[in-house]
Amino acid sequence: MKSAGVTSIATAVTSVAVPDVGAQTGPAVLGPGDVPVALTVNGKRVDLKIEPRVTLLDALRTRADLTGNKRVCDRGTCGACTMIVDGRTVYACSTLAIEAQGKEIRTVEGLSSGNALHPVQQAFCDVDALMCGFCTPGFVVATVAVLEKHPNATREQISKGLDGNICRCGTFVRIMEAAMKARVTRG
Ligand code: FES
Ligand code: FES
Repeated sequence: MKSAGVTSIATAVTSVAVPDVGAQTGPAVLGPGDVPVALTVNGKRVDLKIEPRVTLLDALRTRADLTGNKRVCDRGTCGACTMIVDGRTVYACSTLAIEAQGKEIRTVEGLSSGNALHPVQQAFCDVDALMCGFCTPGFVVATVAVLEKHPNATREQISKGLDGNICRCGTFVRIMEAAMKARVTRG
C-alpha cells in the first residue's frame, strides 16, 4: 500500500504542467536600473538615462537643469509642480518621466520668449501675486492652461482651472487678479 501510494503521487506530480518562465509574454520589463528616456520639453528633445521610477519633476529638475517648477508636497496635492503635457495640466511629481515619452511637455521655462515674459507671468509681476513664490510657477502654468482653453475665461472657469493649486501664503486674491488681467492682455 505504502509503495503504491508513493508511485501514484509521483505520477500525479510529473503530470502537472510546469509553467515555462522563459516563455512569458506581455510588455517588456524595464529597470530597475537606468534606461534611456527621450522627452520633448518646451519643443526641445531631452535625452536622459534614469530609473523607470523617476518622476517627470525629478527628471527635469535634477537631470535637465529645469528647476522652474517646484517640488513642494511631492504627493500630488499642492500643484507647485504643475506642467502641461499634451495640452493638459499634470502634477509632475506624480507622473513618471518614462510615461511622458512621445508627449509635448511644457514647463514654466518654456513660457517666455527671450527676455519677454509671457503675459501671464507679466500679470503676476504687475499685481504682485506672490509672496514666497514657491507656488508661483505652478499657478502660472495652470493659468496659462486655463486661458489657452478659455481665452475669455470667467472667474468661475479660472477658479475651477486653478483649484488643484494651493498657495500657503494666501495670495489667492492677487492670483485671481493676475489671471483676470492676463485674460485681457495676452492677445
Ligand atoms: S509638488 Fe507636485 S503637487 Fe505638490
Ligand atoms: S506665494 Fe508662498 S506659497 Fe504661494
